Amino acid sequence: MTGIQKPSLIDLVIAAAGAALVIWLYLNGEVIEAAISGQMGREAIIAAIWNHVGWGVVSTPLVLAYAFLRLHAERTPYFQRDTLGRIGKIILWALVALLIFLVVTGPIVVWTYGSDLKVFDLFVIPTPTGKLPVVHDPLEVGHIWAAKASPWVAGLDLAAAIMARLRR
Ligand code: HEM
Repeated sequence: MTGIQKPSLIDLVIAAAGAALVIWLYLNGEVIEAAISGQMGREAIIAAIWNHVGWGVVSTPLVLAYAFLRLHAERTPYFQRDTLGRIGKIILWALVALLIFLVVTGPIVVWTYGSDLKVFDLFVIPTPTGKLPVVHDPLEVGHIWAAKASPWVAGLDLAAAIMARLRR
C-alpha cells in the first residue's frame, strides 16, 4: 500500500473554477429576482431574463465540461471507502445531477413559455413546444430551487476536495 491517495492540484483547480462559474451564473440569474422584487419594471425584468438565458446557453458547454471532469476525478483513488470519500461522492453526484438539471430545464422553461430561445444577437432556437404551462410551471420552480442549491453544493464539492488533499 502506498498510503492514502489525494486529489491532484488539477482536480482542485477544476473544482474551484467550476464552483466560480456556477456562483457567477447563480448571481447572473439572481438579477432577474432583484429586478422583480425591486419592481424595476417589465423592461428591466425581460432584459435580465434574456441576459441570463444568453449566458446560460453560452456557458452550458463549460458547465457540462466541469460536471464531466469532476466525475472523471471520482474514478481516481482519492474517493476511497472512508467517511470523507463517501461524503465526497454523495456531494459530487448531487452536484452533477443539479448541473444537468439546470442546463436542461433552462431552455425548456423558455420554450414552454411559448418563446423562442434567443442567445444574445447570436442565434435563435425556435420553440419546439409552444406554450405548455403544465410543463413550464413545475420546471420553472424546479430551476429556481436547483439554482439556489447549486453554489452551496459546488462549494461543498470544492471543500471536500481540499480536505481530501490536506488530510494526512
Ligand atoms: C448552472 C447553470 C444555471 C444557474 C446556476 C442558474 C441560475 C438561475 C437563477 C439564480 C435564477 C433566478 C432564480 C430566482 O428567481 O430566484 C434563474 C432563473 C432562470 N434561468 Fe437559470 N441558471 C442556470 C442555467 C440556465 C440556463 C442554461 C438557462 C436557459 C438557457 C436558464 C434560464 C433561466 C430562466 C428562463 C430563468 C427565469 C425563470 C423565471 O423566473 O421565470 N438558466 N436561473
